[in-house]
Amino acid sequence: MRVPEETLQEIRTRTSIVEVVGRHVALRRSGKNWKGLCPFHAEKTPSFVVNDERGTYHCFGCGAGGNAFRFLMEAEGLTFPEAVRVLAERAGVKLVTGREDPARARARDERGRLRDVLDLAARYYRHQLVSGRAGEDARQYLGRRGVPAEAAEAFGLGCAPAGWDNLARFLRAKGVSLDLAERAGLVVARESGGHYDRLRDRLVFPIHDASGRPVSFGGRVLGEGEPKYLNGPETEVFRKRELLYGLHQGADVLRRTRRALLVEGYLDVISLHVHGHGNALATLGTSLTADHLRLLRRWVDEVVLVYDGDAAGRKAAFRGLDLFLAEGFPCRAVLLPDEHDPDSFVRAGRDLAALVDGAPSLMEAFLSDVAARHDLGSVEGRLAAVAEVVPRLRAVTDPLARDLYLARTADLLEVSEAGLRERVARARAPGRAPAGQAGEAARPGGPADPVERAVVACLVRDPAVREPFRTRGVVGWMRPGPEREAARFVSERAEPPQALPLDGLDEPVRQVVTAVLVSEAPAEPYPVLEARLELRFLEERRARLQREIRRASADGADGRLVPLLEEKKTLDGAVTACARRVRQGR
Ligand code: UTP
Ligand code: MN
Repeated sequence: MRVPEETLQEIRTRTSIVEVVGRHVALRRSGKNWKGLCPFHAEKTPSFVVNDERGTYHCFGCGAGGNAFRFLMEAEGLTFPEAVRVLAERAGVKLVTGREDPARARARDERGRLRDVLDLAARYYRHQLVSGRAGEDARQYLGRRGVPAEAAEAFGLGCAPAGWDNLARFLRAKGVSLDLAERAGLVVARESGGHYDRLRDRLVFPIHDASGRPVSFGGRVLGEGEPKYLNGPETEVFRKRELLYGLHQGADVLRRTRRALLVEGYLDVISLHVHGHGNALATLGTSLTADHLRLLRRWVDEVVLVYDGDAAGRKAAFRGLDLFLAEGFPCRAVLLPDEHDPDSFVRAGRDLAALVDGAPSLMEAFLSDVAARHDLGSVEGRLAAVAEVVPRLRAVTDPLARDLYLARTADLLEVSEAGLRERVARARAPGRAPAGQAGEAARPGGPADPVERAVVACLVRDPAVREPFRTRGVVGWMRPGPEREAARFVSERAEPPQALPLDGLDEPVRQVVTAVLVSEAPAEPYPVLEARLELRFLEERRARLQREIRRASADGADGRLVPLLEEKKTLDGAVTACARRVRQGR
């Protein structure tokens, strides 16, 4: 469905965002805005602000923000077209879908068809497990693994019978083309022509999206055998790095506890659910990504890793450390006793809840692990330990958190804090992103600059300043980061604030814009702010020039010195003029 911009605009103008949000959040008036408790993170004092005039919301606690479409997508898990449809209907705007871009229409139809076959396959596998004769082995296996029938049902478990083409024949009999089934990841094409079932003689774990529809299947051998698990390929409807196993089944518990237990295996998730931990989730055989954390942030405030206590489990847990540090996402770690995985631990009747409650932060667990693996009694041992920790400290984006971790590390490894700080600073080569950089969310230059923020605010509020901003090249005076991206984006648009299209923006950039949309007007007028940016830019250039002059005169390179001094004089003049503009503007 391609909806023309004018129609979207019409829906937006006819929609009261206060009413849309009001169905989920108790809002109270606060000046020109409305305020309430953010539905996207747990809080006790309201930092969620809605601006009815502009049709936008923003949470100063978690950064969520956008327009009414966005709100419905986030709060009700709708896709953009679904949100458009809902609001169009409420607003009485008729959607003309006749002009849909044919390529998009095909993609949408394709996704719909894939979903339908996946649904059909899920029902087939389930039926085989519940009532097929072929399901007998699988039922026994589940019994041995301690999975009760209710849990098997909640997770939609099924089984694939032995034989090469049971599913393929079933699907064909239902009129499904095997090419489509192949694109859904269910069957594999033979080079010699024809198709065979991907999963054969296996226990089947459907993988659901957040709304509970199957998008892929994992299959485990019954008993011993290699490979232990077979997973479906990425498809139009299945993106591994954005999904977590157990999300749909755990939704209520996640929302209530605001905490997710992250384990490694499908069976760990199920077993933990059975033993009272409905908030257990697992990645789909891949490592954790920034996309996963973005997904998790909508549901929970902290993640507790529950990993095997052996060397491999510890390594896997610490692999995620840089990501959590860079995203500033609270994470703690339970490292189970050596011989246990999460499933065997709860099945042995041990108390996982106690371990979870007492779990140290992932960073703390990492530091203890480093300390335990090196001989801190020797200088070499301590240096090796420092070398392991430095890259991790570098990944911490929050300066205060970095300070605290620095002090803690210095203490634990018995090295001087100043020496350690110097190591970290040296490792922070400018312009190089920290290892394991978590997408664009990490802010390279520290916290937002208030002048840059205010410039973005002017650009958003007043379309008239966008042209001078563009033609004078002001973007070049800003530091790299979401403010600069937001300024660049807005300056190239013509819409008034309430009509800026926010849906395609990267998360951090959108956060900047939505924060501005619900904030007070900047204290200073645009020309002054622009002059401030220019002044900073000129002063930095002058400082660089000054250094060059010092070097040239130390080298006795008079030939080089003269033009530098000329340039400095011009620059001094420009700085003075610019500083005057800043003063006079106030
Ligand atoms: P585990 O080997 O820990 O499996 O792999 P598990 O889930 O605990 O299974 P059981 O208890 O032996 O039955 C953890 C996860 O790694 C992926 C799967 O997602 C699995 O759940 N994996 C593992 C594969 O994708 N392929 C494999 O061959 C093995
Ligand atoms: Mn296991």
